[in-house]
Amino acid sequence: MENTDRLRDELLARIAVADLGELEDIRVRALGRSGRITELMKGIGALPADRRRVAGQELNRVKDAVAGAIEQRKTGLEAEALDRRLAEDRVDVTLPVRPEAAGPVHPITQTIDEMVAIFCEMGFTVADGPHIETDFNNFTALNIPPEHPARQDHDTFYLAPGADGTRRVLRTHTSPVQIRTMMAQKPPIRIVVPGRTFRADHDATHSPMFHQIEGLAIGRDIHMGHLKGCLIEFCRAFFAVDDLPVRFRPSYFPFTEPSAEVDIGCTREGGGLAIGRSEDSTAADWLEILGCGMVNPRVLENCGIDPSVWQGFAFGLGIERAAMLKYGIPDLRTFYESDIRWLRHYGFTALESPSVAAGFAGGGT
Ligand code: PHE
Repeated sequence: MENTDRLRDELLARIAVADLGELEDIRVRALGRSGRITELMKGIGALPADRRRVAGQELNRVKDAVAGAIEQRKTGLEAEALDRRLAEDRVDVTLPVRPEAAGPVHPITQTIDEMVAIFCEMGFTVADGPHIETDFNNFTALNIPPEHPARQDHDTFYLAPGADGTRRVLRTHTSPVQIRTMMAQKPPIRIVVPGRTFRADHDATHSPMFHQIEGLAIGRDIHMGHLKGCLIEFCRAFFAVDDLPVRFRPSYFPFTEPSAEVDIGCTREGGGLAIGRSEDSTAADWLEILGCGMVNPRVLENCGIDPSVWQGFAFGLGIERAAMLKYGIPDLRTFYESDIRWLRHYGFTALESPSVAAGFAGGGT
């Protein structure tokens, strides 16, 4: 009895001043498999029967007291260590930004953000789809059947045929997301789809990978007036020219009927190009910037939507081209060269996040 009291007092005294490492040591030596208390407990069986119970209870009490004291000291030490770290580890907010963390926002990202902000103000939401598409979504459902001449225009990258024998494609436009969306949800629909697209084409004005933004609005009575209002408003907001002339020129796309190409007014003077019109009408010209039309009823049918109930419009435009026009970027290829000097010149700061209220005419940093 006296022995166990002494053992307990000795251990508690050591625990009270131990650091974390010493605590573990004390635990192992007292309570481990051949620790002192463990050994004493093993010895109980050798005691005369009338003393076993009391000795057992006594040892258990010591064991609990020691284990409890170790746990308590440990928790206290850990809390102290955390407090010390919280007090000592200060973030120095006056330090300059690390150069690798100060990368500007790429003009493509900026342009997508600006366009999305404008369309979201009009009630569109952002939809998304994969770069690798089925032939059906990229062509057939969009009323571009096999052997249709429009397929040649697209200079498609085909993948090797899959197990089912069908060839998948790198999507040649963002229009397959129209199909995906109409297959997956019921109208009314109002989406924009920014994303990468691919065509086997490479020169100063074409890249095999480029970006488009697609739009689709389906409702019971969405008509050409909505299409025109929406896109005129978009062009004026994006180029930040309130009276920008916008012209709809008849065109053809298999997935829209009627179809139109949209041109914006520009001014060509002394070899330069400016968006909008000047006083000098002889310098006036047009620039094509997007394709659009009323969704072809066949496309609605292909997606299981009843064209006698639902109708709407779609549009698609190239992001790079719009960015080049707005920000005066002369060469398409420079977008993908990852040249940090180019990015510093044409990039944007992460803090200039675009919104209709704040405006979009930021220019380079
Ligand atoms: N998908 C067409 C293209 O890539 C653009 C477009 C989209 C035209 C939607 C009309 C409607 O050229």
